[in-house]
Amino acid sequence: MSWLAALGLLLLQTGASGFGICPGKSLNHQEITEEALLNVTAHVCQAVALAEGKDFTFPTLTPQSVAVACGASKSSKCFRQTIKIIQNSNKRVDARPPYDPRYHFDNEKFTEGKKIITDGLIAVKASNEINNFVVAREKLGQILHPLQDFYSHSNWVEMEMDVPNSNLIKSDSSIGDIAGENRATCRDCVGDDCTNNIFEDILKEKILTSGYFDYQVLISNKPTGKCSHGGKYDDSSEIPPRGGISKDTLDSSHGNLHIEAANLAIAATSELLEDIRGAAGDKTFLQFMGISKGKALCFVIDTTGSMSDDIAAVRTVTSAVINSRVGTVDEPSVYILVPFNDPDFGPPTKTTDPNVFNNSINSLVATGGGDIPELSLSGLQLALTGAPRNSEIFLFTDATAKDQHLKSTVTALIEQTKSVVNIMITGTLGGRRRRRESGVKSDAQLYRELAQLSGGLAIEVSKHELSVAISILTKSSSSSLVTLLQACRSLKAENFTFMVDESLSNVTVYITGTSVAFTLISPSGVSQESSSATGSLITASESVGNFKTLQLKTQPGLWKIKMVSTNPYNLKVIGESPIDFLFDFLEESQGPFECLDVVGNRPRAGVNGSLIVTLTGSESATVTEVILVESSGLREVPGTVEALDGGDYLAKFVRIPTEPFVVLVKGKNKNGSSGFFQRQSLTSIKASNVTVTSPDSNSILVPGITLSIPFFVTSGAEGNFSIRATNDRGFNSSFEFLEFGGCGYGSVNLTAPSTTPPGTDVTLTIEAEDPGSADMNYVVLRFTVLKTSIDPEDFCSGDLWY
Ligand SMILES: *[C@@H]1O[C@H](CO)[C@@H](O)[C@H](O)[C@H]1NC(C)=O
Ligand SMILES: *[C@@H]1O[C@H](CO)[C@@H](O)[C@H](O)[C@H]1NC(C)=O
Ligand SMILES: *[C@@H]1O[C@H](CO)[C@@H](O)[C@H](O)[C@H]1NC(C)=O
Ligand SMILES: *[C@@H]1O[C@H](CO)[C@@H](O)[C@H](O)[C@H]1NC(C)=O
Ligand SMILES: *[C@@H]1O[C@H](CO)[C@@H](O)[C@H](O)[C@H]1NC(C)=O
Ligand SMILES: *[C@@H]1O[C@H](CO)[C@@H](O)[C@H](O)[C@H]1NC(C)=O
Ligand SMILES: *[C@@H]1O[C@H](CO)[C@@H](O)[C@H](O)[C@H]1NC(C)=O
Ligand SMILES: *[C@@H]1O[C@H](CO)[C@@H](O)[C@H](O)[C@H]1NC(C)=O
Ligand SMILES: *[C@@H]1O[C@H](CO)[C@@H](O)[C@H](O)[C@H]1NC(C)=O
Ligand SMILES: *[C@@H]1O[C@H](CO)[C@@H](O)[C@H](O)[C@H]1NC(C)=O
Repeated sequence: MSWLAALGLLLLQTGASGFGICPGKSLNHQEITEEALLNVTAHVCQAVALAEGKDFTFPTLTPQSVAVACGASKSSKCFRQTIKIIQNSNKRVDARPPYDPRYHFDNEKFTEGKKIITDGLIAVKASNEINNFVVAREKLGQILHPLQDFYSHSNWVEMEMDVPNSNLIKSDSSIGDIAGENRATCRDCVGDDCTNNIFEDILKEKILTSGYFDYQVLISNKPTGKCSHGGKYDDSSEIPPRGGISKDTLDSSHGNLHIEAANLAIAATSELLEDIRGAAGDKTFLQFMGISKGKALCFVIDTTGSMSDDIAAVRTVTSAVINSRVGTVDEPSVYILVPFNDPDFGPPTKTTDPNVFNNSINSLVATGGGDIPELSLSGLQLALTGAPRNSEIFLFTDATAKDQHLKSTVTALIEQTKSVVNIMITGTLGGRRRRRESGVKSDAQLYRELAQLSGGLAIEVSKHELSVAISILTKSSSSSLVTLLQACRSLKAENFTFMVDESLSNVTVYITGTSVAFTLISPSGVSQESSSATGSLITASESVGNFKTLQLKTQPGLWKIKMVSTNPYNLKVIGESPIDFLFDFLEESQGPFECLDVVGNRPRAGVNGSLIVTLTGSESATVTEVILVESSGLREVPGTVEALDGGDYLAKFVRIPTEPFVVLVKGKNKNGSSGFFQRQSLTSIKASNVTVTSPDSNSILVPGITLSIPFFVTSGAEGNFSIRATNDRGFNSSFEFLEFGGCGYGSVNLTAPSTTPPGTDVTLTIEAEDPGSADMNYVVLRFTVLKTSIDPEDFCSGDLWY
């Protein structure tokens, strides 16, 4: 991309339409997508049940009912999350500039639009084949957008076609005759009535055309005689032939055909999902949808010479997990193993087969790594990019990190994936190393910070205690684990409260820290001191190294725990319950619509902001309060809560804290008589004054061909940004960056070696830091390596850049 083009891109503040992205009476992309995802998933579960000779009652199409009908009620949160990821990635095509007509089938870009779909479909299937569901879901959302827009923006519906155009998803077939460049397709509309503006011969001969769309362009895109998209954002509809043909909403130029178009879009989406199912098989398809299994089991292991005891402990616990959970609802959905040593790390093993996983754990050998420290953060980076969101990752090491320069990248990935990192530190880190290297943090401080900001634990135990510690932690890795409270404090006595609701079982308190004393007080006022290991409130307790767990007697109501410590400690209260929540920050869409778009990185600091909260696991529970709680415990910002459709809530805050914080949700479960509940997010959230954005690209990387990825940075303050561009595969990359007056733009060149196997995913993290304030923000981009026929010119030709 040239700098001139980059500047053009900055000036081009646009984004165009499709089925309305704002909530309203009309069906929008999100509803169309959800309807089809629920429909096909329910059909797949039906087929699986019938094949197993089980009864199946076809559910009403809600995420909760479909998950229950699929016999996977515990995965309803994951299913809900999958749907949201696909919806958001679909919606982003509209919400993020630059506007690209190919993604909307505008401007008669039929061949180009179809190519986006068929190339993307290849990428989805290739990613599913290697269990890379993270990339597959994002890609799916991206190609559903043009697929659905075809029915709204072309004249397919006007040609009285009542089934989807199946050739849109087939690489080698024609989608029909497309109007020639010089063929007039539309006449001026008569007054406000635009229903008969497409020429009769076009419709009779079944010639495909679509509306042209101009948004703040200097020279119109629309050739003489062509139809326009229409609507208030499309300037071309003022140029004869006036009016438009879009069916985006009931109020659009062809709004009378909106329902037909939306129904065809649902059917076409179902058809594309069926195609993916056919390639993946039912079992993999359900995993792709986030249905049917427990959480990921993810180990990151130091394999240097001194780690043989640790590896043995990991073997034991792996066998225990496999033996106790395979075949149950808590069977891990995927197993991930990332070894690291020095100078090597990876490759990750990622499998759904417990035997394959057991074998790869068995084949780990502790060798090498003479000069401690090791590449632990490189290993962790691969685990974070490879694991599903909200995963729990266990990292085992006995050495400090050599690659501390990756700390901010790992931080960004923890925030972005909301995954929890538990770090098992065996032995005293200093003990293995006599010499201190300058700039390398000593001891376990870096590990403690990373575990803490992810909401995980840094457990420091001797090698012979490791088996006990890890088996305590993995025992409670049920997929319906929820967090009631989590807090880290240093040198501070504090009284905490937490609400235990009737849906909870197995309420457990985790404490890490040395010399921590506490008093527990039950809702009925009974109290118990930490000095008595068991009593009427604690049914079981275990203690190893700096780590202690207490199983509480389950008694609904408000509990208190008074903590007294002269050392830093971490307190975490968890339990098992179907009721949990998902959330995303929202920002003003950068497109022309007055809408809110999901923020994929740090939200803006110090200004107002909104959150979308989705309650999962119960159709009767409601949210009453959403509170941003500073991680230090010092301040809280309560939000105003408004119920939206389908279990979603919009929470608005007058100010997003400038200090790190977590999200606390309180609500009422109508199921219970006392019914109040609370749930807390784990990852520590940081807001930022810096913004980093990158337009969604094709996200396909061709081996041996350099892809240029543009990005933009803004900040309220003047300053020199430091830019970092890191990828998890060690591919060659370079960047250039130009800055002026608090904002800047640049591009990263990324190249996959020509020998990279197809289907490989690579995650690129671009960070911008304002060195004055150490304020940082980032954008995380995922690519699939595929040999396709993509012409690199596609990225910078045509009307994409002007
Ligand atoms: C629902 O899915 C089934 C099977 O995948 C498909 O045959 C049917 O057409 C879909 N229904 C709609 C309305 O898309
Ligand atoms: C894992 O492999 C070990 C060693 O071959 C074997 O003893 C153990 O039974 C296996 N565990 C499972 C759960 O298959
Ligand atoms: C905790 O509560 C007790 C009374 O139950 C009170 O004496 C003490 O000061 C409180 N501690 C803190 C840190 O607020
Ligand atoms: C609601 O109550 C029923 C019957 O008491 C129980 O089986 C179910 O688990 C409860 N659901 C929740 C979400 O608490
Ligand atoms: C509580 O956890 C134990 C294992 O720690 C498990 O066996 C039991 O089924 C759990 N109880 C419930 C109600 O989930
Ligand atoms: C911030 O407040 C303004 C003015 O009230 C409002 O228009 C905007 O939507 C709010 N932003 C967010 C993200 O809620
Ligand atoms: C962002 O700017 C505000 C002033 O507008 C300042 O108070 C705050 O500290 C800044 N936040 C960060 C993270 O630098
Ligand atoms: C940015 O860096 C350059 C060179 O290091 C320096 O001359 C300039 O003063 C810096 N600008 C600001 C605003 O810090
Ligand atoms: C990126 O690649 C383009 C063309 O392939 C080249 O012109 C540009 O200089 C490269 N930029 C960097 C930072 O390597
Ligand atoms: C990576 O960059 C190095 C140095 O510029 C070069 O020698 C090497 O060929 C590049 N590798 C690939 C796969 O492009």
